[in-house]
Amino acid sequence: MKNIVVLVSGGGTNLQRIIDCIDNGEIPNATISFVVADRDCFGLERAKNKDIPSQLIPRGKAFSSELKQILPENIDLIVLAGFLSILNKEFCESFSGKIINIHPALLPKFGGKGMWGHHVHEAVLKAGEKESGATVHYVTSGIDEGEIILQKSFEISENETVETLAEKIHRVEFEIYPKAINLVLN
Ligand code: GAR
Repeated sequence: MKNIVVLVSGGGTNLQRIIDCIDNGEIPNATISFVVADRDCFGLERAKNKDIPSQLIPRGKAFSSELKQILPENIDLIVLAGFLSILNKEFCESFSGKIINIHPALLPKFGGKGMWGHHVHEAVLKAGEKESGATVHYVTSGIDEGEIILQKSFEISENETVETLAEKIHRVEFEIYPKAINLVLN
């Protein structure tokens, strides 16, 4: 059984999708052993509703070292699902190849510091991009710079708004994150 830890900061719909995929067999032979949030958020409620052990570690400089201390042993994968803190270099290096993130744009475009959630969608629309999508990538100490595992794009429509873009991207994320998790675990 593969052992997954999920990190969240927000609504946790990607966490919910992963929970559902483990339940329905789309992600076979895996379990979420722990959910960690860096702030109070609905993602934590989703873990509690499913009786998954969870913990809040307040965001800040000590986050990565505190997380390292409480992580269960034998972790196969750390999944960032709408997680907004930056993990420090030491943490990234000690779990190299075992941390993945989903980003709401087509990396390497529209990544880096400050590029999260609606900020990304606003920048994409402002730049007049013809397409957007989502990217799953390995996490390294360079923000959004790790190797790409899976990416899926769609065309931006003429009357696209931040809200419609966010919704379309979530749909793409629900499709590619479980696939990427299976790829990395197997
Ligand atoms: C997702 O769209 C994810 O790509 C984005 O936050 C949203 C979280 O939704 N992540 C980032 O912007 C990270 N840079 P969720 O909490 O409902 O899964």
